Amino acid sequence: MSSDNMRVLFTDEEIQNKVKELAKIIKEQYTPENVNDPEFQKPIALCVLKGALFFFADLMREVELDFEIDFIRLSSYGSSSVSSGQVIFVTDTKLPLTGRDVLIVEDIVDSGNTMDFLREEFARRGARSIKICTLIDKRERRTQEVKIDYSGFTLAQGFIVGYGMDYAENYRALPAIYEILI
Ligand code: IMP
Ligand code: MG
Repeated sequence: MSSDNMRVLFTDEEIQNKVKELAKIIKEQYTPENVNDPEFQKPIALCVLKGALFFFADLMREVELDFEIDFIRLSSYGSSSVSSGQVIFVTDTKLPLTGRDVLIVEDIVDSGNTMDFLREEFARRGARSIKICTLIDKRERRTQEVKIDYSGFTLAQGFIVGYGMDYAENYRALPAIYEILI
């Protein structure tokens, strides 16, 4: 299957159970108190491409609430593979965020730079609330202590692929999550 040395970290079943757990909490917290309120606006769920693609699709189906959905893509520049540098939009959302409740769905928070940038940027655009849901919270290289509202698995260290996540654009379509052993 691959030339890299890999071992399963989270099985398909473990991932799907975790998605259900997260969806239940999100559903409770985002269920509108009064949909007939003329002020009510649907929350917005933003998928951070490409890595969060499968997680986003599974999560949103489980949450079963009417979110407006959109996709964003970011790129970060830095001197190393750690995203130490500046984060920029490759694809931005066109939805005006003023007064809106925004749920960011991410595959993995590593240094925290990307999510720190998004929190700041969306606050600047006037979002009413900003929450972050990540499947994986990886602590090893955290440099920005960004608030994560919903987190699936915590990982002390390691490089992982599968279920949307890649290593040089490989392995994204695998249904389980693997650690690459270096
Ligand atoms: P950061 O939190 O700004 O450092 O960036 C996190 C992004 O780096 C994630 O959204 C992933 O796209 C990527 N990334 C970090 N660690 C891994 C990993 O172990 N496997 C695959 N992608 C990773
Ligand atoms: Mg990502």
